[in-house]
Amino acid sequence: MVIAIDGPAGTGKSTVARAVAERLGFTYLDTGAMYRAVALAADRTGRPPAEVAEHVDIELGAHVLLAGEDVTEAIRTPEVTAATSHVAADPAVRQALVAKQKAIVADGDWVAEGRDIGTVVAPDAAVKVFLTATPEERAKRRAKQTGGEYETILRDQAERDERDSTADRAIFEAPADSVPVDTTELTLDQVIDQIATLVVEAKEIGA
Ligand code: C5P
Repeated sequence: MVIAIDGPAGTGKSTVARAVAERLGFTYLDTGAMYRAVALAADRTGRPPAEVAEHVDIELGAHVLLAGEDVTEAIRTPEVTAATSHVAADPAVRQALVAKQKAIVADGDWVAEGRDIGTVVAPDAAVKVFLTATPEERAKRRAKQTGGEYETILRDQAERDERDSTADRAIFEAPADSVPVDTTELTLDQVIDQIATLVVEAKEIGA
């Protein structure tokens, strides 16, 4: 079974997806980490991102390994974050990574998190959640998490949202059959409970 969790940056996707996976005993797939690792590898080697994406050796888990090297922190710097949304705009990069992601979730129970899980990677996912939160709340959370400056984060976030949602990238829209969850006023536990309820319902329907 696949639970797809999509939504823009800062809506709590990673925290929510990790926690849901833990509660249900599913495996967590962070597709953003794959795009980030490709951006980092392309920057380091100077090779075209599409070529890097095709051959990249990424291991996901508690740590993110790029050709065996622990890049868990290196892929989360503001520079790599900014570069990633450019790299992810390349259709050839997306094609290569989506193929890998489809293969990963083909078997077993997964909580997959990203932008295009419910639409492209796992269109048949049993549960599709689209997380939202106001831009101010998203920036506030990021500032708290990273210790960065709120105004700068809010501005960078607006730029990234813009790049992530340009017209030819409708992949970032909520899947028509997803359940929107506005996390602005909710605690983490409330969000997890809502998703867990959706999973129980999906299992009942599937049974
Ligand atoms: O989720 P995260 O912030 O780690 O994603 C980093 C970037 O990777 C996003 O801003 C987006 O450009 C890209 N991404 C994507 N498709 C996904 C996941 C992430 O294009 N499924």
